[in-house]
Amino acid sequence: MYKIHTLNAISNKGLERLPTDQYDIGAELNEADGILVRSAKMHDMDLPESLLAIGRAGAGVNNVPVDRMTDQGVVVFNAPGANANAVKELVIAGMLMSIRNIGPAWDFSRKLEGSDEEINKATEAGKKNFKGFELPGRTLGIIGLGAIGVRVANSAKALGMRVIGFDPGISVERAWELSPDVHQAGSVDEVLAKADFVSLHVPLIDATRDLINAERLAFMKDNVVVLNFARAGIVNEQAMVDALDNGKALSYVCDFPTNLTKNHPKCLALPHLGASTDEAEDNCAIMVADQVRDYIENGNIKNA
Ligand code: MLT
Repeated sequence: MYKIHTLNAISNKGLERLPTDQYDIGAELNEADGILVRSAKMHDMDLPESLLAIGRAGAGVNNVPVDRMTDQGVVVFNAPGANANAVKELVIAGMLMSIRNIGPAWDFSRKLEGSDEEINKATEAGKKNFKGFELPGRTLGIIGLGAIGVRVANSAKALGMRVIGFDPGISVERAWELSPDVHQAGSVDEVLAKADFVSLHVPLIDATRDLINAERLAFMKDNVVVLNFARAGIVNEQAMVDALDNGKALSYVCDFPTNLTKNHPKCLALPHLGASTDEAEDNCAIMVADQVRDYIENGNIKNA
């Protein structure tokens, strides 16, 4: 007999969803063998001594104190690839939104007033402000060729783009084997120097913090579009906003609104929606539940 508790209210009884108020989380946690968590930050939580495993229902594990848990013998699992399609779709949507000015154009339409005839006239006058450009022949640079990066690459190729990629975690040869349709660069800087669009798909670790910074933005192409559906700290926001303000970069599409980005006219900041689909949530929950159960019951470790 084992107990798994989830802070996001998916019970261990067949994964049916339960309202959180049906659980006494504190009491349940005290005896938990496993915890499944989505975005709740666990760094300051008192975790039970009984704990054997944590399952993070997503790709990134930066909301979990992995080092402390590992020192205590608690195995931390994640769900690589389980939400990759959802994130990919939003990256492509963000790219299309940025090049067709969909956010500002929609805002413009919503503010139109008067009769339909007046609206029609204002539309004719206003539409020249929202002219965009097209994707075929443009280069998408992808940093990080894991489950999400490769899917983004494949979709971008289907849209007629050139794709160049680099994965700091694996050799160029291995990346070539995994994603043969992507031109493999030898470094992050090579990707950045050649790309019209840059999409980031690496975890936030010391080596990737401020990966996109003032120095790198300076040698990136003029009018570059940066897409960050990974983690906020991978892009130095002040440097990014400076590049938008001085006309170097065209737009910054990200999944983390902040005071610097949320109202900036060249930023499209979404409230961390990348993995927020019914399918992705179910896939992640089921994957980590299976892994944590398999570990507790059989001692098997996958994706830790
Ligand atoms: C992830 O790391 O996969 C996402 O942040 C998932 C989420 O939104 O919870």
